[in-house]
Amino acid sequence: MPRADADPVAATLTLDPAFTVGPVDSRLFGSFVEHLGRCVYTGIFEPGHPSADERGFRSDVLDLVRELGATVVRYPGGNFVSGYRWEDGTGRAADRPRRLDLAWHAIESNAFGTGEFVDWCREAGAEPMLALNLGTRGMQEAVDLLEYCNHPGGTRLSDLRREHGAAEPYDVRLWCLGNEMDGPWQVGHRSAAEYGALAARTARAMRLVDPRVELVACGSSHSGMPTFGSWEATVLEQCYDTVDLVSLHSYYDPTGKSVPEFLAGALDLDRSIDAVVATADHVGARLRSRKRLQVSVDEWNVWYVSRWDPAAVAEWREAGPLLEDTYDDVDATMVASLLVTLLRHADRVGVACLAQLVNVIAPIRTEPGGRAWRQTTFAPFAQIAAAARGSVLRAEPRVATYESEVGDVPLVDATATYDEESGELALMLVNRSVDRPARVRVDVRAFGDALAGSAPDGLLEIDLDPVSWRVVRPATDPRPGS
Ligand code: AHR
Repeated sequence: MPRADADPVAATLTLDPAFTVGPVDSRLFGSFVEHLGRCVYTGIFEPGHPSADERGFRSDVLDLVRELGATVVRYPGGNFVSGYRWEDGTGRAADRPRRLDLAWHAIESNAFGTGEFVDWCREAGAEPMLALNLGTRGMQEAVDLLEYCNHPGGTRLSDLRREHGAAEPYDVRLWCLGNEMDGPWQVGHRSAAEYGALAARTARAMRLVDPRVELVACGSSHSGMPTFGSWEATVLEQCYDTVDLVSLHSYYDPTGKSVPEFLAGALDLDRSIDAVVATADHVGARLRSRKRLQVSVDEWNVWYVSRWDPAAVAEWREAGPLLEDTYDDVDATMVASLLVTLLRHADRVGVACLAQLVNVIAPIRTEPGGRAWRQTTFAPFAQIAAAARGSVLRAEPRVATYESEVGDVPLVDATATYDEESGELALMLVNRSVDRPARVRVDVRAFGDALAGSAPDGLLEIDLDPVSWRVVRPATDPRPGS
């Protein structure tokens, strides 16, 4: 219980528009839709729902997705993709086969597939990011799907897309070369050497179909994997030249942890990103390459993994509820802190996807036939995505730390973005203290008169409650001519 009279944690921060980490890439605010539980069926897609359009897209969910501000959406998995035949999800709905989904022990109706997903992304205002099956399938099927999606016409597969109603190419740029291929649970799991060779071959062939694609090699499923680091090194030795990004997945489970220990998880994400960057750069140096890879943190979130009940998948079921975690305010603070961490790495993280989007460990929940609502984790994502513009500023809060299993953790976590064009500054702050509020003093003298209205003496003072997050957008004076 926080003490009402507790002394605030004192933090100071100096910001200067001249000292930046890198540009804010809107792709940092991505999300993820997998054929898992009710993410697709009765999540984003529910023909017959009162809010559904003629394609079965729930407009109540679409409204929330737009409000969330998801910029990129990864699809169709996740573990699901490693047994997926993309052709099943194309063509007339009545002709689509029902299949066993081996990853989640479910029945897949294939009523929703690639074409529906790309259309749905357009409605949501998000860029599609497609994952390829490199588990049970390989290079040929990857190339086929790319031809189906991106080739304008005049070939068997591009004409098939046109027959399916899409005259224009889908023009999908971002592609994941498989999913979590380092994990023994993955259907078609491979050794690093096998996967690296397959990723390289597939990437080369894909670039022959469409040289504009941006390709993501599978990194580690989490930093606790015994192969973390060595997997990336071996894989990238083979495909460094042919890919653009390497993935990292990071989930944080609050179960059995004190709140400070749980919130310390953001430090793990911070170090994991640094480790992947260092490994990729090491390979780049050995190859005498000038190219620098980006990291795609294409699955991250709070996930109560320990609540997984194997009984939920004992029977072969179609779109039954799975992993429908309910989040609280501490989880929302963790999500804010993980976003702060991602922004602080804006120079090397090129894509990030909150996993997942609807119902499955998600910021949005739905009832079949009923309402859709926001979870606590919705607000930090939506507010930070809306505020982060321009460049990420270097921000090193001076504040006391506490000890945790992952090391010394600053009680206050912070980052800031500044948009030179509009003159807008935004601060994203987290107080990790469980029993003390925080007072953050931010020196903004380097902004001159622009912030005179909010900080007449060049100092902003921001208060946070214990275990909380805030996005602060100090009013800037209008810029001449704007
Ligand atoms: O997001 C849930 C699952 O977590 C994904 O299917 C898999 O990629 C990861 O292990």
